[in-house]
Amino acid sequence: MPAFSASAPGKIILFGEHAVVYDQPAIAVPVTGIAATAYAAADVLAPTGQVIIQAPDINLDSPVNELPMGDPIRVTVENLQAFFQLDHIPACTIRVSSTIPIAAGLGSGAAISIAIMRALSKAIGLEIQDTDVSALAYEVEKIYHGTPSGIDNTVITYEKPVYYERNQPLKTLRIKKPFKMIIADTGIRSLTSTTVGDVRKGREQEQDRYEVVFSAIGSIVRSARQAIEKGHPDRLGPLMLENHELLDELNVTCPELDNLVQAAMDSGALGAKLSGGGRGGNMIALVDDESEQAVSDALVEAGATNLIQSQISG
Ligand code: PMV
Repeated sequence: MPAFSASAPGKIILFGEHAVVYDQPAIAVPVTGIAATAYAAADVLAPTGQVIIQAPDINLDSPVNELPMGDPIRVTVENLQAFFQLDHIPACTIRVSSTIPIAAGLGSGAAISIAIMRALSKAIGLEIQDTDVSALAYEVEKIYHGTPSGIDNTVITYEKPVYYERNQPLKTLRIKKPFKMIIADTGIRSLTSTTVGDVRKGREQEQDRYEVVFSAIGSIVRSARQAIEKGHPDRLGPLMLENHELLDELNVTCPELDNLVQAAMDSGALGAKLSGGGRGGNMIALVDDESEQAVSDALVEAGATNLIQSQISG
């Protein structure tokens, strides 16, 4: 078995997080400056079927079948084996590294699982289609937060901007005029499962109010799609702010995210909002060439622990 590698990018949600779980549309784009990479190499001396996973960044070096049941990496490998209907996977070592911050709303979990599936499939000489990669990654996403919308596995598998609606055929998004986002990290790690669970509980208690917020977010997403496809990225700024306000109504922002949004706006950003599950992780700010430097400086000054500049095109 020869050695093979595969990479998968990070992602950001531009509009529509949380409401997308309740069948509203959302827009997400790949972030190619950050990626998870998996490298699968034959291990001729190892016992039959022994698959070792090594992830030096998180001090992991273990046979996959000794990881806890339900561990996302173990599930990724076992599901791939079942998908190919193999008795065992040829003995190999899979090495994983990633520059995508974990639990920060940038799709790290889906990217790792997709990179592993692709590297391992190539290494064992079996083809897997994008639809199957995405479907298997969706199963792993369920481990992270029970009821995922499927947006992460979709955008990361296809590596294209998507206008995503649950249970609908894939719609990629044509970005007529590229635009720039600064992705700024609060440094707070927040589990998507917690915020998704809290929104679910909130909706159970106040269904009417939550439905109004979800559909208002859906309208914003539809307007954003038009602006993106017609080449008016400047119109996205106010839509981002409205989306952030509505996420606040769902109680998924936090003072640190609000502070970064404010800092971005005060320093000339065209719009800003949290991105992903919320209560930590990253926010995004829409900038142009003139405002980019000032906004970056202001975000660092306001406490951002990491910045990623991303050109949104496709
Ligand atoms: O935290 P992230 O980037 O994985 O985003 C979660 C997005 C949600 O809409 C909150 C959940 C989902 O499954 O779509």
